[in-house]
Amino acid sequence: MGLVILNFKAYEEATGSKAEELSKICKETAEATGARIIVAPQTADILRTSPLIETIAQSASSIKPGSGTGSNLVESLKQAGAVGSILNHSEHRIPHMQISETVLRLKEAGMISVVCAQDDEEAKALAEFAPDYIAVEPPELIGSGVSVSQSKPEVVTKTVENIKQVNPDVKVLCGAGISNGSDVKKALELGVDGVLLASAFTKAADPRAVLLDICGGL
Ligand code: G3P
Repeated sequence: MGLVILNFKAYEEATGSKAEELSKICKETAEATGARIIVAPQTADILRTSPLIETIAQSASSIKPGSGTGSNLVESLKQAGAVGSILNHSEHRIPHMQISETVLRLKEAGMISVVCAQDDEEAKALAEFAPDYIAVEPPELIGSGVSVSQSKPEVVTKTVENIKQVNPDVKVLCGAGISNGSDVKKALELGVDGVLLASAFTKAADPRAVLLDICGGL
């Protein structure tokens, strides 16, 4: 069964006590459907969500313990309960050298890395760093409600092909505009291992119903 990663971004609807409420919905939906659901809340909310549902950070830093004000130290994220981190999201891009270093830091800590790519070419370059997952997300579709799997299937299939050529162990996700079960079903048909999404769930009037529908596509 595929994986669903829910990025809480900095949405008001998914911050603080609301991040906790959404995580309870994720826990109950995961139990009811058998789906693997992971949430990526704001760093300050990791302590709230991690007892409920698998949690990853939105952007771990490459730095080692020491000076580095404002960083998200891997060890700190781990102690807060995170099991991994997203890296290089379109809304928080970092240099490729830094991605490579952070993937290694996460590996050493026994944590998973979910590295975002804007297209199939970037995905190919990032596969060299051997992260656990690469998520392709065309920036223009993020938050649009228009699913990458339905509107740009060729980007998804090319990404899968490119990544598997470089490193068949890297799992592939797609995201941007994924809104319902049929978007997810289509994504899996294109060869990905799961999806990454945000607004369709966090901003829904009935997030539980949306998540159930999404998991129905796995
Ligand atoms: O990280 C997932 C995200 O960038 C996609 O956002 O709102 O289009 O699901 P959204």
